[in-house]
Amino acid sequence: MAYLEIANLNKSFPRAGAPPLEVLADLSTAVDEGALLSILGPSGCGKSTLLNIINGLDDATRGSVTLAGTRVTTQTRSNVKISVVFQQPRLLAWLTVRQNVALPLKEMGLQKDEIAFRTDRYLRLVGLEEFAEYFPLQLSGGMQQRVSLARGLAIEPDLLLADEPFSALDEFSARRLRQEFVRIWAETGKTILFVTHNIREAVFLSTRVLMITTRPASVHLEVDVDVPHMRHPDDDTLFALEKQITREFLQMEGEAVA
Ligand SMILES: Nc1ncnc2c1ncn2[C@@H]1O[C@H](COP(=O)(O)OP(=O)(O)OP(=O)(O)O)[C@@H](O)[C@H]1O
Ligand SMILES: [Mg+2]
Repeated sequence: MAYLEIANLNKSFPRAGAPPLEVLADLSTAVDEGALLSILGPSGCGKSTLLNIINGLDDATRGSVTLAGTRVTTQTRSNVKISVVFQQPRLLAWLTVRQNVALPLKEMGLQKDEIAFRTDRYLRLVGLEEFAEYFPLQLSGGMQQRVSLARGLAIEPDLLLADEPFSALDEFSARRLRQEFVRIWAETGKTILFVTHNIREAVFLSTRVLMITTRPASVHLEVDVDVPHMRHPDDDTLFALEKQITREFLQMEGEAVA
């Protein structure tokens, strides 16, 4: 069995005075340990919902998620250490940047020294060491997102679920952080799932691209990106793949509109 098995996942949300909103429809996939999987799909198709279910924050209506052999529900968590970088930064306004990053580490029961070490390390990584004593509302939106990324990485999870971690950033920061992100992934060999709207980002970063359909979402296309890391920004194979996936994406959207 694969590290993460998603089998015939269905999710619908009840609506007042209307039939339930079907968000996921028989979505199935399998993810190997150590994969860097990107999830591509149109806005509102159910990507964040999928991550929530994998993280045990919400239950599927039907179907199952199995992580390292354990069935995941809101009641049963696997032993896998998961961290999430949400689409919004979700920082605590009354804690400083440093305290926000340190909080989950405290909850994990880490020693003070280790907490200080990791907090400094990951704040430096996202370029915010000078802002450690600021409060979130004293930062720009992109900076808040970088704090959220530092907080997720500092946990040093077995499985990182990142929901559009770079989309709120300017191109310079995004570029640098993408590189660091891949470097951390390559160094640690941990599994990463990350949601993106950006086809180039998906192709250039990941080992596998999962494209999902418009709502209700199922798998439209799964492609392995068989190019070793670290990758060169103008690799021809990657460009060709980007073109192919873009074509598929446009075709899928066209079909959805027709
Ligand atoms: N808790 C909820 N209750 C009711 N409906 C929900 C809930 N969460 C999500 N939805 C609905 O499910 C659909 C999918 O939402 P989701 O946030 O998963 O999309 P997404 O693919 O992450 O979109 P985006 O790319 O814009 O972030 C939307 O129509 C949304 O309104
Ligand atoms: Mg989303």
